[in-house]
Amino acid sequence: MAREDAGRELREEFNKWAEAGRGEGMEQDHLPITLPVLEKMKVGSEENLLDVGCGSGWLSRRLAKMAPGGRVVGMDISDEMIRAARRASTEQENLLFVTGEASEIPWEPNFFHQAISVESAYYWPEPAAGIHEMFRVLRPGGAAWVVINYYRDNPHCHQWGALLAVKTHLLLAEEWMQMFREAGFGEVREERVADASATPEKYTGRWFRDAEQLKAFKREGALVVAGRKK
Ligand SMILES: C[S@@+](CC[C@H](N)C(=O)[O-])C[C@H]1O[C@@H](n2cnc3c(N)ncnc32)[C@H](O)[C@@H]1O
Repeated sequence: MAREDAGRELREEFNKWAEAGRGEGMEQDHLPITLPVLEKMKVGSEENLLDVGCGSGWLSRRLAKMAPGGRVVGMDISDEMIRAARRASTEQENLLFVTGEASEIPWEPNFFHQAISVESAYYWPEPAAGIHEMFRVLRPGGAAWVVINYYRDNPHCHQWGALLAVKTHLLLAEEWMQMFREAGFGEVREERVADASATPEKYTGRWFRDAEQLKAFKREGALVVAGRKK
C-alpha cells in the first residue's frame, strides 16, 4: 500500500477512535506502563520533548508539567485526536500539538532533548522511517523511547492483529532494536515493564480470551526500546 493510502487509512480509523472518546480512555490503560518509563527518562525542567502518536495528549500534558522551562510537542496523524488534545490543553503555554505522520515529523532537526512514543509505533506504515525521524529531530545526546504492548515476544497479544481495523507490525524486540541501530542510535537497549495494575476476576472485553490471558499479558509487560543519539 502506498504511504499516502496507509496514512489516510490510519487517520480515518483514529479519527473514529477520537470521535468515540477513546483517546481519553487510553490514559488509564497506558499510564501503568508509561510511569516507569517517565522515571527512567529523568526529564530536566528545561528540556524540549516530543510525544509521537500523542492521541488525546495526556502524556504531552504530563511532560509539559515536568519541563516547564522547555517546549513540549505532541504529534499525531489523526487531526481529531489533535483537536481533542488542544481542547484539553488550553492552560499550558509550553505545550503545542501538531498533526503529522511519524515518517515525516514536521519539525526542525536537532531540537528535542527526548522523544517518546507510547502504543503507537506498531501502527506506523514504515516503523523504520519513524525511528529515523525521531533520530533526526533529537539533538546530539538526546534519547528516544518507544513503548509498545504489541510485539512478537509476548504471545498473549498476537490476537490483536486480527481485531484491529488497520495493518499492524508484530515484530520482535530484536527487530525494533535493529531499527534503532540502523537509524544511528547508540546505547540501544530493551526492557520489559510489567503492568502491575489490578485485573478484575472476570474479563468481558474482546482483546483477551479471559482474565487469565490478560494477567499473563500484563506480567510479560510492555516492551520499551531506547537509544541515544551520539
Ligand atoms: C493506541 S493510540 C495511543 C495514543 C497515546 N500515545 C496514548 O498512549 O494514549 C495510537 C495513536 O498513534 C497514532 N498514530 C498511528 N499511526 C501514526 C503515524 N504513522 N504517525 C503518527 N501518529 C500515528 C494514532 O492516531 C493514535 O492516536
